[in-house]
Amino acid sequence: MRVSLQGVHKVYGKSRPTKVLDDVSLTIESGDFVAITGPSGSGKSSMLNLLGCLDVPTFGQVFFDQRDVSKASESVRERIRLQHIGFVFQNYQLLPGLTVRENVALPMQLAGVRRMERLARVQGLLSMIGLEKQADQRIIYLSGGQQQKVAVARALANLPGLLLADEPTGSLDGQSTLQVMEVIREVNRSRSVTTVLVTHDPQVAAYAQRVYRLESGSLDG
Ligand SMILES: Nc1ncnc2c1ncn2[C@@H]1O[C@H](COP(=O)(O)OP(=O)(O)OP(=O)(O)O)[C@@H](O)[C@H]1O
Ligand SMILES: [Mg+2]
Repeated sequence: MRVSLQGVHKVYGKSRPTKVLDDVSLTIESGDFVAITGPSGSGKSSMLNLLGCLDVPTFGQVFFDQRDVSKASESVRERIRLQHIGFVFQNYQLLPGLTVRENVALPMQLAGVRRMERLARVQGLLSMIGLEKQADQRIIYLSGGQQQKVAVARALANLPGLLLADEPTGSLDGQSTLQVMEVIREVNRSRSVTTVLVTHDPQVAAYAQRVYRLESGSLDG
């Protein structure tokens, strides 16, 4: 999927408005792998939320392929997210009481994917992240690195065209960081999933084909 921000501004708050993104334009071609860096508070998560259809811009446009989603309703955006976008966050956001398998299958159930297809996809994803043996373990018994791999697998459950990751290795040690990044790189390469990753870690940013820097809401490329 190709995703594009055109002259995007984001202002939070009405009584004391804060401008967080100031005329940001960026096009990410289908299959690209892009990293976004920048100091805390520079607007990285705000930008990712727009790319992920979690939010809409105050001014400007957001395109998925040819479609302008900048004025789409919450319910339309929700459907786009479920069908086309996978998210990975710093703190995993898995359901701790469920098993690995159940967590990965959940988005497919929400999207109404048939049982046989679900089982097959879960199997493929667990093999991709190397956690087939842990399939029936609950999340609470996994290490941080293992949990983040499960989060990547879950993000891919509905075969998204766009994978977004906000500090996906922020809570991981060096070894786990490398493992999770290898999984993300493999997904980007083998499935041509457009990948956008926010990170403070130069070693992580180095996995991307292009690195952009946000500074007080403006983009350097
Ligand atoms: N929903 C919101 N309402 C009001 N202000 C917000 C909201 N979300 C973010 N902000 C403000 O916007 C600015 C940018 O926040 P954002 O989370 O995008 O930064 P960031 O670059 O991701 O920072 P970090 O590296 O710490 O995660 C901050 O000043 C933040 O307080
Ligand atoms: Mg952030």
